[in-house]
Amino acid sequence: MSSFNPRLPYNSLLLPPDNDKIETIAILKQETNAAAALAELKGLANIIPNQAILINAIVLQEAKDSSEIENIITTRDELYKALSTTLKKYDPATKEVMYYREALNEGSQKVSQRNLISLSDIIHLQQTIVKNDAGIRKLPGTALVNDTTEEVIYTPPSGEDIILTLMTNFVEYLNNVERSLTKLAVLHYQFESIHPFYDGNGRTGRIINILYLLLKGYLDTPILYLSSYIIKNKAQYYRLLREVTNEAAWEPWILFILQGIEETSHETIIKIKHIKELLEQTIEKVRRQAPKIYSKELVETLFVNPYCKVEFITKSIGVERKAASRYLHQLADIGVLTAYKAGKENIFINAALIDILKQ
Ligand SMILES: Nc1ncnc2c1ncn2[C@@H]1O[C@H](COP(=O)(O)OP(=O)(O)OP(=O)(O)O)[C@@H](O)[C@H]1O
Ligand SMILES: [Mg+2]
Repeated sequence: MSSFNPRLPYNSLLLPPDNDKIETIAILKQETNAAAALAELKGLANIIPNQAILINAIVLQEAKDSSEIENIITTRDELYKALSTTLKKYDPATKEVMYYREALNEGSQKVSQRNLISLSDIIHLQQTIVKNDAGIRKLPGTALVNDTTEEVIYTPPSGEDIILTLMTNFVEYLNNVERSLTKLAVLHYQFESIHPFYDGNGRTGRIINILYLLLKGYLDTPILYLSSYIIKNKAQYYRLLREVTNEAAWEPWILFILQGIEETSHETIIKIKHIKELLEQTIEKVRRQAPKIYSKELVETLFVNPYCKVEFITKSIGVERKAASRYLHQLADIGVLTAYKAGKENIFINAALIDILKQ
């Protein structure tokens, strides 16, 4: 048993355990279920013709939920508005969600280009999230504190050398470990326990979870909505992390993460099916009621940008502003969009899609 004291830097944090310590029968069984759900999600994503629709919709929600762990409450409405206007006008909470989304998108692109996640990629992710360049912790004093009791629950390793050694091992393991969702759970514990940054470790760690799924080919695009599960079960999540440290209780922790992957895969599958149905209904409706302006690209644009404005249409289908504006008004007339004014600008909302995303 480790001599763990939550108030002292946990410099005896071990490297990830060997397989014989973590591959129990219950874990192997749950790994199979989680992998099957994820495989179904991966396949199903292709029923949506334009992947930008899913990436935009799901990444934004993931960003919102993940940021909410920090007690940021930003309504989806604000977020979609922020997407269609300049960010400058928005409150700090909305900006924070946008930075998370930016980090997740950048990270995903890098993984698909290079099939690798480096330490500097991770440092860059955290920088994008917190918008400062402090980087890896150099000074002592970082501790995790219970919000209500203010009691110290965990003090991560202290000393730049130790942190760098642990992070080098982490990156090695992340890239070279065999494809396994159980290993994702191990990696997530390891990252949070190293806690390499002064702040943003939770959010950076949750992005790394999604990037791991891309890196190992579990998904082609970052469409799993895993942070919602972590937030919903935050108390349990915190307790299980602590129990790995205190009691080497790997099994309940790993099962918790594997169940999360299975559950959120199923939830995301349902969401994708609803989006697909709505897309088909909308195509039919525009084809019938506004045949002169109908094109598949036009309708898809309303799904890529649930808050649409004239310039999105001019860009996506290459028509003049005047025509684009006429198209949008006509789509509002037939009830596909809802028009509203934001300052001088007209915004057109795909309300049915927003409803699905909110569910
Ligand atoms: N006992 C623990 N051991 C290791 N890591 C922990 C423990 N309890 C919580 N954590 C991790 O620490 C994270 C919080 O750290 P930090 O404040 O740096 O991240 P954040 O991104 O700013 O916050 P949040 O995760 O709350 O959004 C939690 O999300 C969790 O992953
Ligand atoms: Mg924090």
